[in-house]
Amino acid sequence: MTQIIRDLTTWQTFRNKIPQASSLGFVPTMGNLHAGHASLLRQSVQENTQTVLSIFVNPTQFNDQNDLAHYPRTEEQDVAMARDLKVDAVLIPSVDLMYPQGYRYQVQENNISQYLEGEMRPGHFSGMLTVVLKLLQLVRATHAYFGEKDYQQLLLVQGLVQDFFIDTKIMACPIVRMPEGLPLSSRNSRLSAEDLKQASVFSKILQQHLPIPEIKQQLTEQGFTVEYVEEKFNRRLGAVKFKNVRLIDNV
Ligand code: PAJ
Repeated sequence: MTQIIRDLTTWQTFRNKIPQASSLGFVPTMGNLHAGHASLLRQSVQENTQTVLSIFVNPTQFNDQNDLAHYPRTEEQDVAMARDLKVDAVLIPSVDLMYPQGYRYQVQENNISQYLEGEMRPGHFSGMLTVVLKLLQLVRATHAYFGEKDYQQLLLVQGLVQDFFIDTKIMACPIVRMPEGLPLSSRNSRLSAEDLKQASVFSKILQQHLPIPEIKQQLTEQGFTVEYVEEKFNRRLGAVKFKNVRLIDNV
């Protein structure tokens, strides 16, 4: 049975019933679940005695208020997916529950959060790290699952648990892509089927064995506004805008 939990007392009762020796998998999300999220949930269900999914559209990590206002919210569908996948609990906290004192305490990282996504989205990584720290403390999971799609996020969360002595193992999960190659993303739902097909060219170009200036040129020619294409952490990472939708990928 999948339990839906919206308040702290119910959560703490659920958590305190889990025996110390059993493993608890945790998949934090902002909802609007797709096959990418499902792969994280499947892996967690497979590897742990119990699995908790959280759905929380975290306001502090949105540098663009318009993006926050239009972020897709599909709670009913998301809960149905959780039930299908035999997730034990879905934690759906309110903003007041997560931020009882407003945005008073913040996690600030001073190295890799400063470039690429961090440079394009001021404040994003502080908001993300703050809410992930809160969620990890609240859930006290043995394992937490993060996608490689958000590669800088994954590296920052790995650094966070190390630096703050958090006893949760961070599990890196591979990128799930559309058949055309574009990583699945909640923001993709803002594009029509035809636009999605065109947008998929982004991933095809990024994967080519060509120097970065040529990659950038091809992207521009195909109608993408390039935010960055860079090689870091043994990967090539890119972010573009297409019809006002931000797309990111790494290979
Ligand atoms: P969200 O964008 O909902 O993503 C939740 C998790 O799913 C993240 O770890 C993300 O990397 C992973 N994910 C998303 N699309 C994926 C894909 N196509 N393949 C594999 N994994 C994918 O990332 C966040 O939410 C938030 O920043 C959060 C960590 C929940 C903090 O608010």
